[in-house]
Amino acid sequence: MEKTIALIPGDGIGPDVVAEAVNVLDAVAKKFGHKWNYTNVVAGGAAIDKFGKPLPEEQLEICLKSDAALLGAVGGPKWDNLASELRPEKALLGLRGGMKVFANLRPAVMWKQLKDACPLKDEIVGDGLDILIVRELTGGIYFGERGTSADGNTAWDTEKYTRPEIERIVRMGFEYAMSRQKRLCVVDKANILNSSQLWRRVAEDVKKDYPEVALSYLYIDNASMQLVRNPRQFDVIATSNMFGDIMSDEASQITGSIGMLASASIGDGTGPGLYEPIHGSAPDIAGKDLANPLATILSAAMLLRYSFKLEDEAKAIENAVSAVLDDGWRTGDIAGSHIDEVKAAGKLVGTKKMGQLVVEYLNK
Ligand code: IPM
Ligand code: MG
Repeated sequence: MEKTIALIPGDGIGPDVVAEAVNVLDAVAKKFGHKWNYTNVVAGGAAIDKFGKPLPEEQLEICLKSDAALLGAVGGPKWDNLASELRPEKALLGLRGGMKVFANLRPAVMWKQLKDACPLKDEIVGDGLDILIVRELTGGIYFGERGTSADGNTAWDTEKYTRPEIERIVRMGFEYAMSRQKRLCVVDKANILNSSQLWRRVAEDVKKDYPEVALSYLYIDNASMQLVRNPRQFDVIATSNMFGDIMSDEASQITGSIGMLASASIGDGTGPGLYEPIHGSAPDIAGKDLANPLATILSAAMLLRYSFKLEDEAKAIENAVSAVLDDGWRTGDIAGSHIDEVKAAGKLVGTKKMGQLVVEYLNK
């Protein structure tokens, strides 16, 4: 298979981790007989520095012309004081909106090798956690009407959803639930918000097509609590843009490290998907060979699975990551309280070495 992948390294540790994911993608291509052509996209703070805006139209065009896009991270203190329209984060929203990737899949899986990094008690975690968050990504308050009054003392953002926007997310939630444990929880704030009440009406309608799936609802405040109280009650969660943003960070912590979680942003399947780790740009450790590249490497696996339908290749990456962890290799963030032992064993590694190890295990 020959495909074009747009690389969007972005800011901070973005370039560090994307470089390792590319090494892994190249190793997969070699092993399975594929060819990837890469295009480079400048977005985020890097684009502000170079072009004066976070996502120039032609950079988005490069993504749209590719078969899939892999992003590192955007943002950093250097650009924090810019007006919101000019901030690096706008690049992310521009990419998501421009590429029409309306659904963000965020699997929160606990790697058994990293169980010690989970802050929850053993009896809560049991034999592991495996939750899939399906987050709406191109609507709601992130994209709704917003404004600030002339005197600067009043400001507003609007949570607005249409039936089709909700339906495609909820349907996706049901579809994934069918291939998993057949449980779907819609997270909302239906005791207050009209938009949430619409989410529930739509979910009730879509439910008729999935009689085997147990559908439940939780208010966001309760859901946040349940996620640490009894996370194993969750299989698939479908939710709005902002609630999904919040819940996925929380989910990342209970699985051990935010440095391990990948994500896929997909649309109706006719255009390229956008793949990115859920962690941020961590500017304090950028370029220091300290960042954990595994979330980006696992995002590359999702890219192969969802955009190219290459399940064996995706699995090969995931198995290699698992084997590397089995053998005790750790970056600082996942060494946790064992850091001294890991160091003594010579298994505390940096970004580059971790990438090399995944390639090595992939070729075993
Ligand atoms: C995420 C991030 C982004 C979001 C930010 C950087 C705009 O937090 O992908 O979760 O809120 O969507
Ligand atoms: Mg977030």
